Amino acid sequence: MPDLSIDFAGIKSPNPFWLASAPPTNSGYQVMKAFDAGWGGAVWKTLGVPVINVSSRYGSINYHGTRMAGFNNIELITDRTLADNLKEIEEVKKYFPDHAVIASLMVESKKEWEQIIKDSENAGADGIELNFGCPHGMCERGMGSAVGQEPAVLETIVRWAKEFATVPVITKLTPNISHIVDPGLAAVRGGTDSISLINTIKSIVGIDLDTYAPYPVVDGKGTNGGYCGPAVKPIAMEMIKELAKHPDIMSTPISGIGGVETWRDVVEFILLGAGSVQVCTAVMHYGFGIVREMEKGVVRFMKDKGYETIYDFKGKALPNVTEWKHLNLKHKVVAEIDEEKCVGCDLCYIACDDGAHQAIRIPEGSENRIPEIIDENCVGCNLCSLVCPVEECITMVQRDDGTQSVTWDERTQAGTIPTTFNDERAGGNGHFVPTVADALKFRK
Ligand SMILES: Cc1cc2nc3c(=O)[nH]c(=O)nc-3n(C[C@H](O)[C@H](O)[C@H](O)COP(=O)(O)O)c2cc1C
Ligand code: SF4
Ligand code: SF4
Repeated sequence: MPDLSIDFAGIKSPNPFWLASAPPTNSGYQVMKAFDAGWGGAVWKTLGVPVINVSSRYGSINYHGTRMAGFNNIELITDRTLADNLKEIEEVKKYFPDHAVIASLMVESKKEWEQIIKDSENAGADGIELNFGCPHGMCERGMGSAVGQEPAVLETIVRWAKEFATVPVITKLTPNISHIVDPGLAAVRGGTDSISLINTIKSIVGIDLDTYAPYPVVDGKGTNGGYCGPAVKPIAMEMIKELAKHPDIMSTPISGIGGVETWRDVVEFILLGAGSVQVCTAVMHYGFGIVREMEKGVVRFMKDKGYETIYDFKGKALPNVTEWKHLNLKHKVVAEIDEEKCVGCDLCYIACDDGAHQAIRIPEGSENRIPEIIDENCVGCNLCSLVCPVEECITMVQRDDGTQSVTWDERTQAGTIPTTFNDERAGGNGHFVPTVADALKFRK
């Protein structure tokens, strides 16, 4: 049986599945229920300065049949008393001494940081997470993402935290910044023990068409919220990769957050270098029970691949994530349609003809409307295979024999890249484009 336990920057946990700081970690009741269900750690709902929350707090993007494909909130940090939270952290640690309880913190002055770190440690927190991410409300008061967007300020506060803390410090970053490496490096310079990301993305999820106010509407008005859930996973993965590959950050453990819902998401985050994952939206949507599928799936994956611990595959995808200029320009794939599976919906034809490279035709007089690929025109963009509603009906088949490789970088060095707008060596040359008459043939 594979061993799922982790030592994350000195914080021990029976597995890498942690709850992110958010409503599911609002109380001892919830965190104990979660641990009982199988979660290995929990980052407590952020403790800090006094706040008052508004009523009507969440909005969502329901995409076609999927509810909460993207989730949005304008909630602040905890509005429960510090005394209650600390008492409950202490209780949780009594019942679950081997689980990880991390106190997420957000205050302003150095004195306040010192006090709240001491309070959290006295309550038994195994680590502290500095919340430099909240992009609504708290940032207007100079905290949250206002700190995460100012590397110099972030570094100063990490230094304070390291001065006062005896437990490991996790610095939680905001994605609301153009270059995530800047705050990442600042956190490392400040001496952080680890980094977590991403917090939510500044967003407006919709406008009420009667009141013209953004969702969630609070008495006729709204404000930008923080976006999270499945929709943000690609952004989180890119940012995790950026940090995990950086020579000055790669040795700092990373807790991956953003759109994690299934065991596959967990594995992907670990393959990109995460040493633990944190989950919020998926638990708010489906409850604590999702951890059972996560655990089973990760264990099955590890057994299939022969891994004993998660460290056996942590970061294994990173060498394959490279810059565009290092990709093989000789690699060639072409779409292939399995006629047995095709239902003749023509979605691939429409997508390729209108949105890609006019490389699919419906044979004239065809009764079943099964399309054909025009090999010479197929650039191997994948669009038809992504659009096709039938699983494995369109596959991308390799057409080069794998023996040749040349990259843009190599061609630049060899002086063989196209250099003018009309250069014969440009990639799209020779591509057949239908005529004006073809474009207007449906005109009435
Ligand atoms: C309603 C809500 C409240 C949140 N509150 C906090 C918070 O107090 N502190 C914090 O660091 N992050 C907070 N977050 C952000 C989450 O911890 C997490 O970083 C983000 O939601 C991305 O993860 P997900 O896609 O799994 O939801 C909150 C998120 C939501 C949806
Ligand atoms: S892979 Fe792209 S170019 Fe080729 S047939 Fe499909 S959509 Fe058209
Ligand atoms: S999208 Fe798929 S099922 Fe529909 S016509 Fe194309 S190949 Fe056939």
